[in-house]
Amino acid sequence: MSADATRWAWALLCVGLWLSLWLLPWRQRQRQRQRIRPTRGSDAPPLLVAFASQSGEGAQWAERTARLLAAQGRAVRLLPLDRVQAAELDRAGEVLLIASTTGAGDAPDNAAGFETRLMRTPHAWPQLRYGLLARGDRSYAHFCAFGQRLDAWLRASGATPAFERMEVDGDDRLMLNRWLREAARLAGAEDPAPSAPDAPEAVDAGEEAAPAALSAPQPWRLLQRQVLNAGSPGAPVHHLVLQPLETGVQWQAGDVARLHLPAQNGEPAAWREYSLASLPREDPESPDSRAEFLLREVRRPDGSRGRGSGWLCHALPLGGTVQLQLRRNPGFHAPEPEVPLVLIGNGTGLAGLVAHIQQREHASKAGRRVGPIWLLHGERSRAFDTHWRAKLQTWRAQGLLHRLDQAFSRDADAHARYVQDLIAPAAQRLHHWVADGAALYVCGQRQGMAQGVDDALAQVLGREALDALQAAGRYRRDLY
Ligand SMILES: Cc1cc2nc3c(=O)[nH]c(=O)nc-3n(C[C@H](O)[C@H](O)[C@H](O)COP(=O)(O)OP(=O)(O)OC[C@H]3O[C@@H](n4cnc5c(N)ncnc54)[C@H](O)[C@@H]3O)c2cc1C
Ligand SMILES: Cc1cc2nc3c(=O)[nH]c(=O)nc-3n(C[C@H](O)[C@H](O)[C@H](O)COP(=O)(O)O)c2cc1C
Repeated sequence: MSADATRWAWALLCVGLWLSLWLLPWRQRQRQRQRIRPTRGSDAPPLLVAFASQSGEGAQWAERTARLLAAQGRAVRLLPLDRVQAAELDRAGEVLLIASTTGAGDAPDNAAGFETRLMRTPHAWPQLRYGLLARGDRSYAHFCAFGQRLDAWLRASGATPAFERMEVDGDDRLMLNRWLREAARLAGAEDPAPSAPDAPEAVDAGEEAAPAALSAPQPWRLLQRQVLNAGSPGAPVHHLVLQPLETGVQWQAGDVARLHLPAQNGEPAAWREYSLASLPREDPESPDSRAEFLLREVRRPDGSRGRGSGWLCHALPLGGTVQLQLRRNPGFHAPEPEVPLVLIGNGTGLAGLVAHIQQREHASKAGRRVGPIWLLHGERSRAFDTHWRAKLQTWRAQGLLHRLDQAFSRDADAHARYVQDLIAPAAQRLHHWVADGAALYVCGQRQGMAQGVDDALAQVLGREALDALQAAGRYRRDLY
């Protein structure tokens, strides 16, 4: 190459470099502007983003969706499904719905009222366009069942899906990005996804990451196991203490542990969830952090032991290890420590309630003002089934546990049979507690107890008042 040609080549290269250095930030600024440019006139009515979520993950996805749309200039109204009225849908042009499934194909608590109130019959909403994200877990028999019912009902009501229902198993980021892109398009964004739409980082752009719902599996050792109710007419209840082999584990009252069951006798490996009945040591690096559980032995109709409870209560030797994941369960996290708490549950549901008492104990020790706690618990027999009697008595004596009411279903002299039967006789007290701002937390059996307690609470407080408490996050349940 001649000297002239080389000079020209260098000059071109420099101009190219300068242009690309200048253009790159300009393009970025342009993208940013595109991203936050109001997508419709600021007079566009707020777009309803409604969610049905039991343990809070769906609610977090809904919040994320709302934040993204707000950043694009669209006014958004974010509501749990139970707070959505038919009149609002009569007027709405578009709606975005995130619907998780719980129980055995059931609606989450913050959508159960919506299902009974509105979804019994089709409405007439030919003007309504909607986007629906159904969330679930394929290991359950009724995958995304509530989301599917919601979809079928909206279609029957004449509403038009803006895109086919999305069904998500777990925390699928790719699907979340797809959802965000479709949601933005439905909201009227001109360029819903200026950056690479399927890039995993698109979800996190400009946002702080939400804490993971599930921790990575870690090995824990079985330190103690003890039957608490020998002689009871009910199935044995075991108190288990597990210790993490790694440090740094963290959780809070309301969270749940998933325990891994190894493959055995031709059955594949599986997971079972158990309420954490204790809190970690304040110092997460402390080697003596431990988790306590209450496990009821389960018998199958053929007399064989339940897979998880059988393995954990019998086969796993003391000192043996089990893989454990911690699952954040924001739907059952505590209110502020000064809020009065009414804790209601039966059987091993006590575990999830006791964690809340312990959290208050910690708050009190840390110098916080703590509200009173009233515990209502149901079991089989007073003589054998008062689990953690000493612990509860100590909390009573300390004034932390303001009141303790127990119901026993198998005692001959039992005045009240089940925990729900304690509620009507305490109607006046319950009214006072609720007037004082109490939150109602229910933990334990879904079948029988949960409905019984819900009916009794509705009878005392009124169904509307109970719905309002639920909508305000003051009536929360963790059921199984
Ligand atoms: C959020 C959450 C918190 C929980 N907290 C607790 C807790 O604190 N304490 C507690 O004890 N439990 C708790 N559970 C319940 C727990 O996860 C397990 O469901 C329970 O231990 C029973 O599991 P298992 O493997 O022993 O029984 P499984 O083997 O799963 O059997 C359970 C039932 O399923 C039926 N079944 C399943 N397989 C068969 C089969 N092959 N043949 C016949 N029938 C069958 C039977 O009706 C049987 O009664 C919780 C559950 C959830 C979701
Ligand atoms: C007790 C329990 C029951 C569940 N039942 C179902 C079910 O029947 N069908 C399903 O698809 N997913 C089921 N799931 C999975 C949840 O839908 C899934 O974990 C989801 O991420 C929870 O979202 P949320 O936090 O918004 O409630 C169940 C989960 C739990 C803990």
